[in-house]
Amino acid sequence: MSNERGNESIDSILKEARLFNPPSDFSRGARIPDAAALERLYEHARADHSGFWAELARNELTWHTPFQTALDASQAPRYQWFKEGRLNVSYNCLDRQLEQRADKTAIIFEGEQGDVRHISYAELHQDVGRFANALKAHGVHSGDRVVIYMPMIPEAVVAMQACARIAAIHSVVFGGFSAESLKDRIEDAGAKLLITADGGHRGGKIVELKAAADKALSHGCASIEKVIVYQRTAHAINMQTDRDVWWADAIAPQSAQCEPEWVDSEHPLFLLYTSGSTGKPKGIQHSSAGYLLGAIVTMQWVFDIRDDDVFWCTADVGWVTGHSYVAYGPLACGATMVIYEGAPTVPDTGRFWKLCQDHKITIFYTAPTAIRALMKCGDEIPAQYDLSNLRLLGTVGEPINPEAWMWYHRIIGHERCPIVDTWWQTETGAHMIAPIPAAVATKPGSCTRPLPGIVADVVDEQGQSITAPNKGGYLVIKQPWPSMLRTIWGDHERYVKTYWGKFGGKYYLAGDSARRDKDGYFWIMGRIDDVLNVSGHRLGTMEVESALVAHPRVAEAAVVGRPDDIKGEAVFAYVVLRGERPPSGVDAVLTQELRLWVAEQIGPIAKPDDIRYADNLPKTRSGKIMRRLLRAIAAGQPITQDTSTLENEAILLQLQGKV
Ligand code: WTA
Repeated sequence: MSNERGNESIDSILKEARLFNPPSDFSRGARIPDAAALERLYEHARADHSGFWAELARNELTWHTPFQTALDASQAPRYQWFKEGRLNVSYNCLDRQLEQRADKTAIIFEGEQGDVRHISYAELHQDVGRFANALKAHGVHSGDRVVIYMPMIPEAVVAMQACARIAAIHSVVFGGFSAESLKDRIEDAGAKLLITADGGHRGGKIVELKAAADKALSHGCASIEKVIVYQRTAHAINMQTDRDVWWADAIAPQSAQCEPEWVDSEHPLFLLYTSGSTGKPKGIQHSSAGYLLGAIVTMQWVFDIRDDDVFWCTADVGWVTGHSYVAYGPLACGATMVIYEGAPTVPDTGRFWKLCQDHKITIFYTAPTAIRALMKCGDEIPAQYDLSNLRLLGTVGEPINPEAWMWYHRIIGHERCPIVDTWWQTETGAHMIAPIPAAVATKPGSCTRPLPGIVADVVDEQGQSITAPNKGGYLVIKQPWPSMLRTIWGDHERYVKTYWGKFGGKYYLAGDSARRDKDGYFWIMGRIDDVLNVSGHRLGTMEVESALVAHPRVAEAAVVGRPDDIKGEAVFAYVVLRGERPPSGVDAVLTQELRLWVAEQIGPIAKPDDIRYADNLPKTRSGKIMRRLLRAIAAGQPITQDTSTLENEAILLQLQGKV
């Protein structure tokens, strides 16, 4: 791990000193109105960690049966929050809004082709009730797993909420993942039912979701009994009698009234598969009460959500951001949110800003990769739109470089909107380190300070807190928190080892390195494991490697990240072929074939950007691939590592593309 920054340039020191104070008019009406209020929350949480969260859980969630125990750590690290309590997540998102907000718009939907729908809380409640009854009619019971493979349309949220309503456990698979990835996830979850669509609109094309689902089911997925298919594109697809049911037919005979199934606080709400350092994605399991509480308080604290806001989080429901800040958090807060189906570039690169203008969006939350890509299109594009309703901007997914932050601040926020850079993970369920807009001054590139009730620290190899400013170390969380993952589905041992192994079960290991500056602000430096961050999406290097070696012509592969201006990291693959290496390491036809192959195995996001062929990979005598070396070569940096332990030093020239 790299750490001290002895030779810091004056320029970077000055840049880091840039402070953006909360705008003065932001305090009025804010849940945490100023630094003093925030300090009092910190004190409360410090004095009584679980009591702090228990009070919030009592205030913010609607309970069927109140809980008695705030936190049970007797089976740590399987922490249990708010035991004895019973509630229903869908009830908390929908039913409890009906008294005051029945006619308020819950969802403003815009399709890629420009079709717009407004759905009120009362309508959404009915849609969810009806679909929940349809799920029951098709044999789904409490605890059953349901996989959702949908385009980014309101029905994806309806499907998730309907599962929550009847206590089924959903697992959403991003629509950009391939049939193969879908199959793996269905099989790991042992899902009984699949919800998909005939297709979705993205980038001016139809995403063939049903065709991919058919392919997945044709060579596995024995647990699937039924497939419910929403008609979105109305192009021709194959429907298998006995197995496939149209969404419209499934709901037609159903009543809109569906009593919520009251569940224990710890009842699993969903599984979401994410990449780790092995070839197999892990099913992150979240709870009901603790998870929802995390989504709600961060909507209030970090997004400062208010009744008249129009909130837009651009994430797809296939990612955790689309769970906490699309499917659950905004609804549980009675907010109005925007859902957009398509790509940011259709019909042109002004689409996001046009959406902001047309729907009078006040809070906009997206990923640095999108900001960088739109920044490249020029300032004149956003200048064509009225962005005056925006009052708060957010980012998530990867560290945001100060240049992109400043552009976002000036060109989109008109120097008026605070930017909340939110650090969190699939595993944490909700924001962990992020500014409170009315209380914390921001610095471009820093996610600032942990939220109240979140005990984050940067520690060294021995687990000792690093107090020296700017010295890098492991980012850890030292106390359990309600929205934390509970386990990895079907592999509790892996959960214990991955997240709690390093520091003897004491601290949660985030898998990121970080440093703290002299003001105690956190700066995330990147992953410490073999996980890449490509356009804000997690991708395991091992996953891509296993996909490559599954190709008949590939004998061995090593995948690393290469810094990329827009995507953050690009996928760089070194490949050893069965048989001859192509002359001078280039074979455009094979490269194209392998790229498509990986897209088919995992999904287009995993396509290697570069493939370099070699006779061998650089290995130590014990057979370990020297990844640091490969990373340096991919980045075009000189090799400074000691290469004397290499089995075959001559391979370096080949890897560098020199012979
Ligand atoms: C990275 C996404 C820096 C980090 C919610 C983390 C970030 C991983 C930030 C989780 C941020 C996320 N600044 N890095 N604001 N947000 N990350 O599970 O490496 O898809 O561990 O969750 O993204 O990615 P995941």
